[in-house]
Amino acid sequence: MDIKDIEMLYLHRQSCRSFDPAKPLADELLTEICRLALLAPSACNSQPWKLLAVTGEKAKKLAAGVQDLGMNKFASDAPAFIVVMEGTGNLTATVGSRFKNTDFLHNDIGIMTAHLVLAADAAGLSTCILGWRNEGKLRDILGLPEKVRIPHIIAVGYAAEGYEIREKKRKPMGETFSLIR
Ligand SMILES: Cc1cc2nc3c(=O)[nH]c(=O)nc-3n(C[C@H](O)[C@H](O)[C@H](O)COP(=O)(O)O)c2cc1C
Repeated sequence: MDIKDIEMLYLHRQSCRSFDPAKPLADELLTEICRLALLAPSACNSQPWKLLAVTGEKAKKLAAGVQDLGMNKFASDAPAFIVVMEGTGNLTATVGSRFKNTDFLHNDIGIMTAHLVLAADAAGLSTCILGWRNEGKLRDILGLPEKVRIPHIIAVGYAAEGYEIREKKRKPMGETFSLIR
């Protein structure tokens, strides 16, 4: 693999807001992108996450959990969602977070999510990370206990026919990168 292939993958991956509702997603493919995401690194290898893949009728119901105030209407067309939950980390990472005044858990979850959406793109799928969610509604629909935290969920499916790849809008690199020696 070449770094140009990685660049192409990064430029191709985009937040999809137009899914093809008629194109179902195979359970095996959904499971496979989760398997790849779970290879992601984490502080002290604590893997403080859990993934729940939701498809079929349950996925149709789940869309309501990301649509408060009329947001994320496109989610109704997604054939599947991956619910990203906080899991149990390990003691070293928890203590390390305290000592170093940082939030390893959410960093780790973000890194794993990035692995997931890129793996999905490489598999020909499209995704949208959804942080605008109603955790209470999501828990109710999924029958999860109140203590379960859901930082975000990911809509997954096939992009609608003709949905184009947008040019990336990013801050000028000079604003977000510097190099010193
Ligand atoms: C943590 C997180 C939460 C997000 N929540 C939403 C959301 O609720 N709805 C949505 O349409 N996009 C959401 N996005 C997608 C961002 O808007 C998107 O990544 C950003 O605009 C860059 O565009 P791109 O992903 O197409 O490159 C979210 C992205 C992240 C990382």
